[in-house]
Amino acid sequence: MKHLIAPSILSADFANIQRDVEMINNSDADWFHVDIMDGVFVPNISFGFPVTSAIKKHAKKPLDVHLMIVDPDRYLEQFKNAGADILTVHIEACTHLHRTIAAIKQLGMKAGVAVNPHTSVSQLEDIIADVDLVCLMSVNPGFGGQKFIENTYQKIKKLRAMSKDVNPGLLIEVDGGVGTHNIAALVQAGANVLVAGNAVFAAADPKSMISDLKNMQIDTLTV
Ligand code: DX5
Ligand code: ZN
Repeated sequence: MKHLIAPSILSADFANIQRDVEMINNSDADWFHVDIMDGVFVPNISFGFPVTSAIKKHAKKPLDVHLMIVDPDRYLEQFKNAGADILTVHIEACTHLHRTIAAIKQLGMKAGVAVNPHTSVSQLEDIIADVDLVCLMSVNPGFGGQKFIENTYQKIKKLRAMSKDVNPGLLIEVDGGVGTHNIAALVQAGANVLVAGNAVFAAADPKSMISDLKNMQIDTLTV
């Protein structure tokens, strides 16, 4: 499977959100990555249901909604109604993660779990068979445009090995500091969904940057 590109709306121009959504519609991107921050789980507040619904209204590709909020169980149904196709919760924010994942699936969405840079992927051992996606945070969540944390490579490799037998179709998403400088190495390590905010929206030509990220030559010889 070719890797998927999920541009992060967090770095879009919120005063021109429809324009940026159309740009992504017309690009080589696969998903919309939608970051929801509550100012409690992370030290920043982004946006919520009305903006997510507004994106959905124009989006022609799936919405990959990343909840950086405490106690996400309270809002699963509202994010379904706002248009989420994939809903990801943080392991650090869920007391009963298995129940939360089941509830997301019950609502008809794909279910993801995100782990912060300090959280070991070994903590996913007993949930890995139940999720569609694991989001490995490669920056501390809260802001776009941060520096990629190199330790992420070994987490990808470990997670890919862990999932091999129990969930071979697992989507491994890397979120934070992804760009043309590291995307090939990340895919080689075993990632197959790459989020890119700053790399896309700070580029002179965002659409061609998405194309560069999507069509990057991956050297499989060293895998
Ligand atoms: C960070 C968010 C990311 C962010 C990535 O908390 O979860 O999705 O938008 O942005 P870049 O690609 O700029 O690091
Ligand atoms: Zn994100």
